[in-house]
Order: sequence, then C-alpha cells, then structure tokens
Amino acid sequence: MIVDHSPKLTPKETQRMKTLAKRSFISQRVVMLKLSGVRRIFEAAQKLPDAVHLEIGQPNFETPRYICAAVKADIDSGKYTSYTPSAGYLDLRQAIAATVKRECGCQVSAETQVMVSAGSAGSLFTGMMAVVDPGDEVLLPDPGYPQYTQMVLMAGGKPVYYRLREETGFVPDIAEMSSLVTARTKVLLLNTPHNPTGTVFDKATMEGLANLAIEHDLLVISDEVYSKLVYDGAQHLSIAALAGMSGRTITIDGVSKTYAMTGWRLGYAWAAECIIREMTKLQSLTYTCPSSISQRAALAALSSTTTIVDMVASYRQRRDWFIAELNRLPGIRCSLPRGAFYAFPNISSYGMSADEFAARLLDVSRVVCVPGTAFGAAGEGHIRMSYAAPMEQLVAAIEHMHKALPRLR
Ligand SMILES: Cc1ncc(COP(=O)(O)O)c(C=O)c1O
Repeated sequence: MIVDHSPKLTPKETQRMKTLAKRSFISQRVVMLKLSGVRRIFEAAQKLPDAVHLEIGQPNFETPRYICAAVKADIDSGKYTSYTPSAGYLDLRQAIAATVKRECGCQVSAETQVMVSAGSAGSLFTGMMAVVDPGDEVLLPDPGYPQYTQMVLMAGGKPVYYRLREETGFVPDIAEMSSLVTARTKVLLLNTPHNPTGTVFDKATMEGLANLAIEHDLLVISDEVYSKLVYDGAQHLSIAALAGMSGRTITIDGVSKTYAMTGWRLGYAWAAECIIREMTKLQSLTYTCPSSISQRAALAALSSTTTIVDMVASYRQRRDWFIAELNRLPGIRCSLPRGAFYAFPNISSYGMSADEFAARLLDVSRVVCVPGTAFGAAGEGHIRMSYAAPMEQLVAAIEHMHKALPRLR
C-alpha cells in the first residue's frame, strides 16, 4: 500500500499559524516551515559539554593544508575582495566543468551551465525555486534529508514521498514510485550516496530511475554531495551521465563533505543553460554571489584528490569498526552502509519511538544521535549516527551504550 506522508496541518493548526503570522508580521510562508530536526538537536546538544556528539554530518578533519595555503596566498594578493560574477568565478566554473567531464563524461559549458553557490544547500534551494510552481508535486525520498521537504513547501509545491525500506536495502522500488506519479508530478529528487542510510544506488537502479523520469517527463534534481565517499568498490553514478538524462537533470555537489569544508559554504550545480540562468538570477537576488575567498578555496580543492583518498580510507575503517560494534549491542541491528558517513541502526526492538529512544539515550548515556523520524515517517524504528566523528568519540559512544541500553528496556 502506498502511504502519502506529506506533512499535513490540521485546520486548527493552519489557523493558529495564520494568527501567529498576523501578530508577529512574519509571512505565513515562513511560519509554516520547520527547522530541521538535526539542527535542533545539534544546537541543543551544544549545551551539554560531556556529550558524545554523533548527531551531525561533520567531518572531524581540518580542511587540507594545501587548500588553506592557496587561500592565504589569494588573500595576500588582494585580488579577491570584490563581488564575483553571480554564477561564481569563471576559472572555478571551468574547474567544475572539467571535473564533470572527467567523472561523468558529460560536456558542460562553464559559461552557461555551471553555477557556484553557498553550499550545495544554496543550489538545492535555487534549483527547487527555479522549477517548482505552486501545486507541483515533487517525489522525495523517505527517509531523506529533511531540508528537501521545507524547500518544496517554500516553493508552494507538494512533497510526495517514496519509501526506502530496510528490507530491500533502502533502495527505491521503481514500480511503487511510478504509481505515485500524477499529472502534477514535475520533479524527482534523488540522493545517492544517501543520507541518512548510506545506501549507494547501483547501476540497474539508476537506469530504472532514468527510465521513470523519461517515461513520465520528470526533471531530476540529483543531490550528490557524498559522491566521493563510497566504500568496498561501490561506484557512484551520476544520473545525468545516462542516455537522455543530462538535459533533464540538475546535478548538485559541493566541497563540504568531500574536502572537510562544511564551514566554507561552497557548492555547485550544473544543468541545462535555461535552468542555470534562472538559478543564477535567484542567487543574485538573494546573496548576490558566493563568497570570493571560499570560491578560491574550492578551486584549490578541486585541483587535487590525493587527500580525499586518506580521508575516505579513514571513514571506511571507522565504519567497519563502528557497524560491527553496533551489531554487538543488545537489540540493535545495523546494515553496512556503502557510502556517506552515517549508520542507521534499527532500534525497534526497544518498543519505543525513535524520538523517545534518542531522548532516553541522551539522558542515560550522553550519546547524541538523531531519531530516524527527523528524516521522515519511514525513519521510525531507526536512529542516525555519524561516524565522521573522531574514533575516540565512536569508542566512547559504544562503551556508554553498552552500559545504558539495558536501562532502556
Ligand atoms: C544530503 C545532503 N544534501 C545537502 C547537504 C548540504 O550540504 P552543504 O554543506 O554543501 O550545503 C547535506 C548536508 O548535510 C546533505 O546531507
């Protein structure tokens, strides 16, 4: 049975929101939006000095030295203190176009088909705003990155969720997705490697998804921010590289996760010229252009991939250890993720909601994780833990959980 998990407000809630909006001058559009559960937990957990933080997707590495050194030289040159083109410096867009050619085999114009943004979140937002009209339906993964829903709502669209089920390795069921498509469906959002499950969609799945998009004439927004974080020989495949897809895909990536640069806020998108033009227009209307210095840092980052290899090897080691240890804990079962840096263990044997489990775990063990429901209704029965945290934190989390879990029964 297909369940529509679109967030619905009761008439009473809607009225309350409208009254609130009227009283505080805040627009109804904004009052209706929800702060991501992950950020809420992150901000609350900052107040707990003794907590073991596994809640956020924050690489524990510093930004590689060669990137910082290049940026210092760029700052000292005094050449990079002005506004940049709204779509970003041309030399950075050329480096992105070269990366796309090398990795996906797609030929894109740096001048017209690439846009640099403030984080990949910036591209997700302008991309969604550029293509979603009020009433348009957008297929989103459940569980999935919570911001997608809020962005669709912001654009006036309707989120419709496709399930990623543990029993089938968190891989989308294409026949089921096809049954969700209506005359109003316009966009299919994909995220592989996937947050929060760590699944990497294989070639057959990607081909099935491409066929679905072509058959129903959908635009794909492909969020590939974890594209370099894959293990055990898993291959990341960009859907835009498949036949008939480059003209109907907005591909989004960035340097945050790959190069341990979350705070630099630098991402990018590539797509058909007509879409990039509109996304760039939106960007120029909001923050004019991405930060000049962060763009120089991204240019330096893209010039080498050697340090990534070491970071990926370190994540894989932590993953192997952490997942094995999670599976030794009483009542916990966790499948081995092949990408990103998240574990998504099943905690349903504890007979409580994911929200309650995460709250009680924090209470009795000081381990901070995110309830699976922060990623959608289908995340019930799971929690998300990031193994991008330092090894000592992972060891402490397992020790604390060994002591605490019996008290949760
Ligand atoms: C799936 C996914 N997409 C996008 C982002 C945003 O990343 P950025 O720092 O590039 O804005 C995140 C961050 O956690 C994410 O998990």
